[in-house]
Amino acid sequence: MDYSIETLALDKQQTDCIIIGIYENQHLSPSAETVDKLNQGIITQLIERGDIKGKNAETLLLNHLPDSNIKRILLVGLGEKNKLTAKLYRKALTAAINALKKLNIKSANCALLDIELENFDAQWKTRQIIETFNDALYQYQETKSKDDNTAATELEKITVQTDDESKSAAETGLNQGVAIAKGIDLTKRLADLPGNYCTPTYLAEQADSIAASYDKMSIEVLEESDMEKLGMGSFLSVSRGSRQPAKLIVLNYQGGNKDDKPVVLVGKGLTFDAGGISLKPGAGMDEMKYDMCGGASVLGTLQAAAAMDLGINIVGIVPSSENMPDGDANKPGDVVTSMAGLTIEILNTDAEGRLILCDALTYAKKFNPEVVIDLATLTGACLVALGRVPSGLLGNDDALCNDLIAASETACDSLWRLPIWEEYHEQLKSNFADMANIGGRDAGTITAACFLSRFTEDFRWAHLDIAGTAWRTGGSNKGATGRPVPLLTQFLINRANG
Ligand code: BES
Ligand code: MN
Ligand code: ZN
Repeated sequence: MDYSIETLALDKQQTDCIIIGIYENQHLSPSAETVDKLNQGIITQLIERGDIKGKNAETLLLNHLPDSNIKRILLVGLGEKNKLTAKLYRKALTAAINALKKLNIKSANCALLDIELENFDAQWKTRQIIETFNDALYQYQETKSKDDNTAATELEKITVQTDDESKSAAETGLNQGVAIAKGIDLTKRLADLPGNYCTPTYLAEQADSIAASYDKMSIEVLEESDMEKLGMGSFLSVSRGSRQPAKLIVLNYQGGNKDDKPVVLVGKGLTFDAGGISLKPGAGMDEMKYDMCGGASVLGTLQAAAAMDLGINIVGIVPSSENMPDGDANKPGDVVTSMAGLTIEILNTDAEGRLILCDALTYAKKFNPEVVIDLATLTGACLVALGRVPSGLLGNDDALCNDLIAASETACDSLWRLPIWEEYHEQLKSNFADMANIGGRDAGTITAACFLSRFTEDFRWAHLDIAGTAWRTGGSNKGATGRPVPLLTQFLINRANG
């Protein structure tokens, strides 16, 4: 898709459709007023006739305007003017693009920057337009022999309407939006790819091509033999049951000064989680190909950061492996020794995410991090606790957690914090090792984070449990969401801006 900025008057443009906003109770946006005047009050008449009320996410297409240069108008309802929020603005955008993509048109102009929204400027709005539109236009094609035309769109060009005053803010927003949208696309594509395509080796190759595209990015991929030398006994115990070699992918983006401490992102890259010897039930097991969403989000976020040329240093670490049952797989009761030297009793081989993350988190220390954020589809318990709305947030540093929450609010990619109190650590006691890898039925998301926290005592750390938010389940909507790339890129933009 070609995204650009447009400053030409609405009736002077060569576009197939103009998207304009209206509020409830007959309030028109400035663009709607202009178009209304140019077309003998047609919008006012349609509202009076009751054809559109202006409720949020309502749409109405006017596909013929006699005596006008404007070919089509898509009216989008925003709801009551004084009740508009960032979330509702995005909801209206999504409704607009969903209505638009079904039409047989090639280009559209989005005139929704004139919708007033307290605390959100033209830069933010432009970014959201690109992000929501691009999200709705994403289509998985990789493993289909024929082009799937059911959801295909004719759209080729989207312009965002702005004026001279907002032009430079809109341009910044456009560049950010395109970079972030591409990062989200990459993340979604990798997560949607089946496990027989997207293996640890494939993820490493993808990371390699990202690194090759940016001067400020370099890559190192550690092989199992390298990990053995480092003593990553916990990580390696997970990949033992798999024919696919595990990889530890390390991307290094140097956008800041040489000595600036980096933000380190660590993403769980389990390309298929069968559960291992503690085998998962069959129903829905196919979806465990998305157990690499943390890793894919790290790749998408680093690509976006590099495309935006952010002036900070970022390290992305992706421990990648499969978790399979096999004669050589780790077994319940096995005790393994992590790189940190702590021993772990594996009571359930399906709690493998923490086993690969703990060694990756120990490895993160080597980069002298400013902060470390890990992201992982770690626990089904997070879905039980929070559903699919916010990602779970846990961490050992209030300032870092608050910065993440602030970024999540701007990005409309929500988080909810859970505690990691001392009392919960009780549940990880083992008779045969320093800790067990599971903490029983209660508070599963928290005990998983408690486990990780034993390996993160030396730095400021936050953990995002994205089990509920990285993926849409069931129905025709099934597939990756690209979350939490919006949140992480916003967090990095905020850091880069000081
Ligand atoms: N990858 C799963 C967590 C998961 C479950 C992600 C559902 C997305 C949707 C993880 O490796 C896992 O299996 N966790 C276990 C932990 C349990 C054995 C303590 C779980 O949540 O059941
Ligand atoms: Mn598992
Ligand atoms: Zn898993």
